[in-house]
Amino acid sequence: MVKEPLQGIRACVFDAYGTLFDYASAAAACRDALGEKLERLTTIWRDKQLQYTWLRTVQGRHADFQQVTGDALDFALATLGLTQSSLRSRLMNLYLKLNAFPEVPEMLAKLRAGEVKTAILSNGSPMMLRSAVDNAGLAGLFDAVLSVEEVGVFKPHPKVYQLAVDKLDVPARNISFQSSNAWDAYAASAFGMQVVWCNRYGQMRERLPGTPDREIKSLADLPDLILLR
Ligand code: 2OP
Repeated sequence: MVKEPLQGIRACVFDAYGTLFDYASAAAACRDALGEKLERLTTIWRDKQLQYTWLRTVQGRHADFQQVTGDALDFALATLGLTQSSLRSRLMNLYLKLNAFPEVPEMLAKLRAGEVKTAILSNGSPMMLRSAVDNAGLAGLFDAVLSVEEVGVFKPHPKVYQLAVDKLDVPARNISFQSSNAWDAYAASAFGMQVVWCNRYGQMRERLPGTPDREIKSLADLPDLILLR
């Protein structure tokens, strides 16, 4: 695994769901109602959520991530025959309060102490991201929290990565983008950012344009890959 630090990084930009926040923590909090269906619900919900973002962007029929997340949850609940009406609202509320992965606060503090800008770039709506950041106690640790709602398309459309370049006023080559979603990491690399793929889920490499520059298993390893001043 290549360990040399990336060169010229002035900003670290993070995907939110799966990278900073543990989307599986929502269903895990409902183990009492989900029982042995918990893992399948988490997987179907996440896969369908992403599929709907890609399909809506290709169709040019955007709706925000709160809508798409609810639609994907409805699909997953129906697939598993989970019809308790209270369960849907319970899961949707939990999705607004996801746990941050344990290494995140200290990692962000180290980057900011090294005068590196930090930002979120996510499919999440502004309301969802504000809620996630505040509930995880990460408020004040980002120079910017960027939602695709500003450009009206979902990742991996290049307009999304361009939003980070424009809002941070940092060229793509001086941005390190971190995502646990391989397709997102590859797209940011193809766009021109330097990329550290946080492969939390042991995904295989994608056969897509782009090549992540580094691969890690935890964001705790990121500061050592960014030359801090
Ligand atoms: C995000 O944009 C892709 O869900 C991921 O936060």
